[in-house]
Amino acid sequence: MTQSSRDRPTAADVPPEAAAPPAGTASPYDVEAAERLLLGGRLEVEGRLVQASNATLYCAIEHEGVRAACVYKPVAGERPLWDFPDGTLAEREVAAYAVSDVMGWRVVPPTVHRDGPYGPGMVQLWVEPDTGVDLVGLSRSDDEAIRRMAVFDAVVNNADRKIGHLLPPGDGHVYGCDHGVCFSVDYKLRTVLWQWRGKPLSAEALEALGRVDAGLRGGPLAERLAGLLTAEEVEATRRRVELMLKHRVHPYPPEDWPAIPWPPL
Ligand SMILES: Nc1ncnc2c1ncn2[C@@H]1O[C@H](COP(=O)(O)OP(=O)(O)O)[C@@H](O)[C@H]1O
Ligand SMILES: [Mg+2]
Repeated sequence: MTQSSRDRPTAADVPPEAAAPPAGTASPYDVEAAERLLLGGRLEVEGRLVQASNATLYCAIEHEGVRAACVYKPVAGERPLWDFPDGTLAEREVAAYAVSDVMGWRVVPPTVHRDGPYGPGMVQLWVEPDTGVDLVGLSRSDDEAIRRMAVFDAVVNNADRKIGHLLPPGDGHVYGCDHGVCFSVDYKLRTVLWQWRGKPLSAEALEALGRVDAGLRGGPLAERLAGLLTAEEVEATRRRVELMLKHRVHPYPPEDWPAIPWPPL
């Protein structure tokens, strides 16, 4: 990933509760170090995530004395999807990370595209969720981090925001995972987070949308997405952002597409 430092979250964005990781392990908040580890590290497959619909592998990764757990989704393990015929799910996951990066909210854990034991795919830092968090309650709440996730999902047109795709590390922050079915040119937002539909976007959401809008007009984000998505998908993203900036409200559910994933968990 090569985003300019201006676009990236700064130390001030890291939740104050976030503890420094123990020496030799990777923090999702230090995105540059995490990306270095994910790109340069040796991947060791430890198991397959049984609930996953594609080949989603749980791995250990190690580089220059730093170790972490990660998810590796090889392109070769992707099931073809009629409604996402172009490109790969792995590339969509990396594109979602690039958008999250520019929004400045760290909604997606550090994610890269690279080669691995089963060929090229996406590799994403594992974020250990706090099992004490009531995920159903969180998904229905007015929580600020969840509201950011709802805005992010509208930008990337996420067709699969299930409750189980919310990963709260327990410090107030919330990460999301599984962004393979994002960026359709058709409006396919399918999510459990509709509580803000039609409500005004917050000032920080408008700022984040402004950053994506500027980024899509040229520069690192536009270049990055051009290598991961079709030109039509990038243009559709620009139009979604433009619409949100114009109407300044959270979007309403689509009428011709199931608006809630099934099962929602
Ligand atoms: N980066 C991550 N950190 C922690 N848990 C993850 C991460 N990515 C995936 N998971 C867990 O693994 C499950 C399966 O991964 P997911 O990305 O949803 O795969 P699939 O595309 O096959 O549904 C998720 O529901 C989540 O519980
Ligand atoms: Mg999933």
